[in-house]
Amino acid sequence: MPTQTVPQGEASISFNGQTISLPVIRGSEGETAINIEKLRGQSGLVTLDPGYGNTGACRSAITFIDGDKGILRYRGYPIDELATKATFLEVAWLLIYGELPSPKQLDEFKGAVTHHTLLHENFRRFFEAFPKDAHPMAVCASTIAALTTFYQAPETDANVSDSVVRLIAKIPTIAAYAYKHSIGQPSMYPKNNHDYASNFLHMMFATPCEDYQPDPVLARTLDMLLILHADHEQNCSTSTVRMVGSSRANLYASISAGISALWGPLHGGANQEVIEMLERIEAEEGSAEKFLAKAKDKNETTRLMGFGHRVYKNYDPRAAILKTHCEEVIKRVGMSSRLLEIAMKLEEIALHDDYFVSRKLYPNVDFYSGVIYKALGIPVNMFTVMFVMGRMPGWIAQWLEMRRDPDFKISRPRQIYTGPTQRAYLPMDQRS
Ligand code: CMC
Repeated sequence: MPTQTVPQGEASISFNGQTISLPVIRGSEGETAINIEKLRGQSGLVTLDPGYGNTGACRSAITFIDGDKGILRYRGYPIDELATKATFLEVAWLLIYGELPSPKQLDEFKGAVTHHTLLHENFRRFFEAFPKDAHPMAVCASTIAALTTFYQAPETDANVSDSVVRLIAKIPTIAAYAYKHSIGQPSMYPKNNHDYASNFLHMMFATPCEDYQPDPVLARTLDMLLILHADHEQNCSTSTVRMVGSSRANLYASISAGISALWGPLHGGANQEVIEMLERIEAEEGSAEKFLAKAKDKNETTRLMGFGHRVYKNYDPRAAILKTHCEEVIKRVGMSSRLLEIAMKLEEIALHDDYFVSRKLYPNVDFYSGVIYKALGIPVNMFTVMFVMGRMPGWIAQWLEMRRDPDFKISRPRQIYTGPTQRAYLPMDQRS
């Protein structure tokens, strides 16, 4: 349950000779908000906040971000500590259940996840029906929704943990099957003796023809990437998961909607766009300066992908962690460092350019993640799917928190109508 907020006095709004007092509340990290729940009832007014830049949609005890200071914490634990000291499944437990797991809890959770990685054999037919060039995000969104057809029992407090385990266990299998289908290779069954990340690498890159042993350093890097993506409070896809879940739609349907929201290039799809941008600059032998001039030009639609963030007005702490790992991974796999060099050059110029400085645009998590995914051998159109795998526990934790919130209500924003006022129906023969 979200921790309660502390009352902090009142704010007042005066309109049409009437003054309305509204309570001000404060969260555990000092974030302060005017609670407007009673505003419309008392005054008839609603608020208008396109893009929700000023609107808190819920109380939440899961993730804290201070965008000005570049701070990100899951359940109070700093992201850099979790990324370097914890495993992804440990972090998943932390996000979902609120505390770090005991050794016994973690063992049981790992065991449950490991034993639910298999997909029902009938489920494999879904993959055969998709066109070869289907985008894996479309495959993931539709197959996650389709899980509901195999697990039809309505979720209750007693059985919801089954859906939680299934989703975390099956998303790597679904992702890898989508990839194998797209390249015409047989899908590989999961292997229970591998850890979470190694198992995914096995399902992606093994074939029935020869032995494949996942590189433990690359598996650990992948595990860290998943941790960095695991939650990010009320972003577009998480808000979508909460919105859909608020109608009491089941967990699979809510997460499927979140996957679709994540797909867009302004959200999770940015990691694919970043690498395509770096490859374009490399292929055209273009200079970083020339590209940045385009990104600043308001007559162009080009943006410096992987830069800027609605919340971070300072360096995204996840980008800082990823940047330090890029070189190590590139060296490990013997990949050319050209794309990393272009990214670093773009960053260096942008961080000294008044356009980016004055708008507080810094690298976000997607700026360096693509370089690492590429070094891991992940195909570009699978990058956003990696984000899905990482974000799964965050979406689940937020969905559960929303359902258990004593303030639970279906999400239903208001609007300011700007269309025609009432008019009479015009018969067809009177229309020009
Ligand atoms: N390149 C060039 N200009 C930019 C960029 C960019 N990447 N990002 C923002 N701006 C400019 C924008 O044109 C606007 O300028 P002006 O004030 O002159 O009109 C100003 O900065 C504010 O931008 P905004 O679009 O109003 O800011 P926002 O908070 O609505 O958007 C954003 C945030 C992430 C959508 C945006 O910064 C962006 O499009 N970035 C590139 C896409 C990207 O990397 N997305 C990944 C986000 S992090 C992963 C995730 O959580 O999804």
